[in-house]
Amino acid sequence: MQPFIHVRDVQKRYDTGDGGVLAIAKVSFDVAAGEFVTVVGPSGCGKSTLLKMMCGLIEPTSGELVIGGAGHEFRPGHDIGMVFQQPLLLKWRTIEDNLLLPVEFLGERRESFRPRARALLKLVGLDGFEGKHPYELSGGMQQRASICRALIHSPKLLLMDEPFGALDALTRERMNLELQRVWMEERKTVIFITHDIQEAVFLADRVIVLTARPAEMAAAIDIELPRPRRLAMKTTPEFGAYCRRLYDLLGFQEEEAAASA
Ligand SMILES: Nc1ncnc2c1ncn2[C@@H]1O[C@H](COP(=O)(O)OP(=O)(O)OP(=O)(O)O)[C@@H](O)[C@H]1O
Ligand SMILES: [Mg+2]
Repeated sequence: MQPFIHVRDVQKRYDTGDGGVLAIAKVSFDVAAGEFVTVVGPSGCGKSTLLKMMCGLIEPTSGELVIGGAGHEFRPGHDIGMVFQQPLLLKWRTIEDNLLLPVEFLGERRESFRPRARALLKLVGLDGFEGKHPYELSGGMQQRASICRALIHSPKLLLMDEPFGALDALTRERMNLELQRVWMEERKTVIFITHDIQEAVFLADRVIVLTARPAEMAAAIDIELPRPRRLAMKTTPEFGAYCRRLYDLLGFQEEEAAASA
């Protein structure tokens, strides 16, 4: 069976008229079905670009990017759930009707998904907000609703672009636990971008580290901590060692040395 996601020598240049911007120089990795992969890298290195190529919003300039492939049942329309850096809710729709949007696109019956919409909202602490409009929710609450929207049609692949960046630290930790629970129950394949190193280690089977733009692979690190992960694990030496390795790879050591020189 082929890997669920196959990325080989992918390059992306944005055509801006003045020679273009090389966002991604060369990135290669495979992801197995059911794997939880997190991606870290400096701001502007090409992480969102990578995710947009995976969900088909933009095309690679060169290289191979295959999702599904032989041995996997995969329908791009049905089987991808995407969470963007901003919530992107439709402001004239209620929260529940925002959640039902993918269902409508897929031509499914809205009514049969209402119980799942309510259950998902409850899961993220938004019960009672079904009938509210986005402006009546805080930024963090809107982002939680947008995560529910990505899950409503039970996609096989969940693509998440810094989904918890706008949340306060406590809500963020709760969402990490909830996401792990959903993932362990439904075994989706998840690609999760974050700039938070602890979050990257806590959630991942494997962390992909990208270099500064134009992105290349700096490393891919298997995280061999037992599951389910608990928040208390963040204080263990094993967890700390993974985080230190990532900080080193991202060049924080040199920056700290330069700052204190
Ligand atoms: N539509 C576009 N047209 C031209 N250049 C773009 C476009 N989108 C992104 N870029 C450029 O590509 C590079 C990578 O952008 P991208 O959004 O993928 O970075 P990122 O790693 O997600 O950053 P951040 O961590 O800040 O979200 C940046 O230099 C950006 O300016
Ligand atoms: Mg981004």
